[in-house]
Amino acid sequence: MLEERFDQAEAESRGLAGLLEGRGFGGGAAVLDLNCRIGRHAIHLARLGYRVVGVDMSPRYIQRAGQLAIEHGVAGDSEFLVADARKVGEALSGRKFDAVINMFTSLGYYDEETDSSILRQCLTLTRSRGIFVLETGFRDAIIRHFQPSGVARPRDFLLLEERKIDLETSRSEADWTFLEKAGDGYRLRAQIHLSHRLYALHELIALFEEAGWRYLTAYRDFELREPSTDGNRLIVVCEAP
Ligand SMILES: C[S@@+](CC[C@H](N)C(=O)[O-])C[C@H]1O[C@@H](n2cnc3c(N)ncnc32)[C@H](O)[C@@H]1O
Repeated sequence: MLEERFDQAEAESRGLAGLLEGRGFGGGAAVLDLNCRIGRHAIHLARLGYRVVGVDMSPRYIQRAGQLAIEHGVAGDSEFLVADARKVGEALSGRKFDAVINMFTSLGYYDEETDSSILRQCLTLTRSRGIFVLETGFRDAIIRHFQPSGVARPRDFLLLEERKIDLETSRSEADWTFLEKAGDGYRLRAQIHLSHRLYALHELIALFEEAGWRYLTAYRDFELREPSTDGNRLIVVCEAP
């Protein structure tokens, strides 16, 4: 599933580069991809000339990101490290970036205090006037278009998703069941529970500002259209004072 999404990230990364350039950060700028998974945005940004550092807590994803960087000829412009976002300030202590990106709903797995701490630590790693680009699911739109279940068919699997939104906590609680093809049928391969905080735009602005960032603007997508509940993604851009 992740490998399939690697190519999709190319267009998003071009959009990201446009957004960064618009803020004065062209090729050569230093970018931190926080919770980078297999490095799909980091690698495409490195191909566009950015110097990138990707961090993720999963050693397996980081190892794959390193392989993909070699395959795409950007091993010299990219670095991938295993680190916990909750301790990213310590893990990258002394380093400074022009921009931090956090893509594909990678904030909200913990409580708000922890999210705020992650944003505060990122600020210590960002140069003055540097920016944070957060791309995430947009609570208002997700609620508007809510689907309690879904089915996907990655390769030889059936993925069944059952979703709930806890309105008291504004958390999405989802159960994912992976069934793997076996003969004429399927066998149960894995079940996971995913819980994350869904944020509205005003809540994200408050979260960033409380952590010391200055809110600049928000978009619906990398074509830089204004936020709307028609699509269920949200991009928030903040600046380091
Ligand atoms: C929804 S994925 C998004 C990944 C990537 N940005 C992308 O667009 O493909 C969330 C990622 O956050 C990572 N993650 C979750 N908690 C983390 C933490 N505390 N520290 C570092 N990475 C974490 C997961 O391993 C996963 O790769």
